[in-house]
Amino acid sequence: MQLPPSEQSLAGKVIAVTGGASGIGRATAKILASLGAKVSIADLSADALEVVAKEIRESGGEVFVKATDVRKRDAVETWIKETVDKFGGLDGAANLAGVIGKNHGKMMLADHDDDEWDFIFDVNVKGPHSTLQF
Ligand SMILES: NC(=O)c1ccc[n+]([C@@H]2O[C@H](COP(=O)([O-])OP(=O)(O)OC[C@H]3O[C@@H](n4cnc5c(N)ncnc54)[C@H](O)[C@@H]3O)[C@@H](O)[C@H]2O)c1
Repeated sequence: MQLPPSEQSLAGKVIAVTGGASGIGRATAKILASLGAKVSIADLSADALEVVAKEIRESGGEVFVKATDVRKRDAVETWIKETVDKFGGLDGAANLAGVIGKNHGKMMLADHDDDEWDFIFDVNVKGPHSTLQF
């Protein structure tokens, strides 16, 4: 089957995916790999990442996984450096690590305490910013 040009263009591209052990990130990583991209996946649990890596490899895809907390800039930098070392470059990122926080649906946003707000902001906002810097 001939893929449309938009999908052909992913072949051989290196894409970094955060939150790839579950949910939208996992589905995105698998789709990218199925379209020929080399995917580098970061998430919190090494065990959960290995499950996804196995699925991708068994489908013929290329994958690198690294347990990484996107709130930690040093860890993100190490993950990206190792990705470039392994695959020879980096072409794009899908920032899908995300949290809704323990109080989602229980209270107004303005009533979240500072620690909870910092936690959500660090993962959902500062995480993607770090990933895109390296
Ligand atoms: N699923 C939906 O319908 C939906 C709708 C709107 C928005 N969202 C948002 O999109 C994001 C992803 O949704 P999902 O359904 O895939 O959620 P999910 O919980 O299944 O996946 C999120 C992934 O991010 C990872 N993660 C969390 N904190 C991390 C950190 N500090 N470092 C690295 N990885 C971390 C988790 O371990 C998990 O694997 C979330 O922010 C969610 O709130 C989801």
